[in-house]
Amino acid sequence: VRSVPELVEMKARGEKIAMLTAYDAPSARIAEAVGVDLLLVGDSLGMVVLGYSTTLPVTLEEMLHHTRAVRRGAPDVFTVMDLPFGWAHRPCPEVLAASVRAIQEGGAHAVKLEGGEEIAETVARLTAAGVPVMGHLGLRPQQVYRLGGYRMQGREEREAEELLRAARALEDAGAFALVLELVPEALARRISQALRIPTIGIGAGRAVDGQVLVWHDLLGIGERRPRFARAYLDLEREIRAAVAAYVADVRSGAFPDREHVPLPEDR
Ligand code: KIV
Repeated sequence: VRSVPELVEMKARGEKIAMLTAYDAPSARIAEAVGVDLLLVGDSLGMVVLGYSTTLPVTLEEMLHHTRAVRRGAPDVFTVMDLPFGWAHRPCPEVLAASVRAIQEGGAHAVKLEGGEEIAETVARLTAAGVPVMGHLGLRPQQVYRLGGYRMQGREEREAEELLRAARALEDAGAFALVLELVPEALARRISQALRIPTIGIGAGRAVDGQVLVWHDLLGIGERRPRFARAYLDLEREIRAAVAAYVADVRSGAFPDREHVPLPEDR
């Protein structure tokens, strides 16, 4: 399992960090087998697994349920759990209580909070209590109702300065890493150069210290994929073809055939 100091050293050595989302044990097992550095049980869970149109309905209980599954699948990968909508902005003791549940009940190693300077005090309190915190700036999907959509953030200089200030505040508060989502590459570079802690980009270009992709986007599962995500497979097409073949075989009687007839020694 990677440690917080090791992740910071990776940045210092110029080694890129590969993070991936996971929501269940089989995908986590595969990620661990190929050596992913970090797993994120993101609240994208709501959209890619639970069928919601935003991340907002996801509950703490749902996050804990899926985090436990991920940890069973990948016992040796540093795993970050998103605190769902609203939690980062609750009073510190409540955020700490939720984070303790993430660690004790979910098995997470760290939590991720969406927010800027307004949550710096909370980040400091969690860090002091021994909860590693990953920040999340730029496009914050939990703000989708306020923003009116999933749009690039930090394009204006004033907004870029604000993000840079927020990034510094989160680092000063003790955050061990920072997700930068959907910001211009030049701004992601500025932020990455200004910080000692690693930046993990998603739609933030190349000048960050690591990347994160959503499992389903990487595999090409789902109807819409952001342009900045690279699909390494077109699994949706392959799954559809396999399921359609199964249905056709059941209907035609081609499945099961002789080799699938159970034998007495089968369990
Ligand atoms: O919820 C999520 O999966 C995330 C990543 C996209 C960074 O926050």
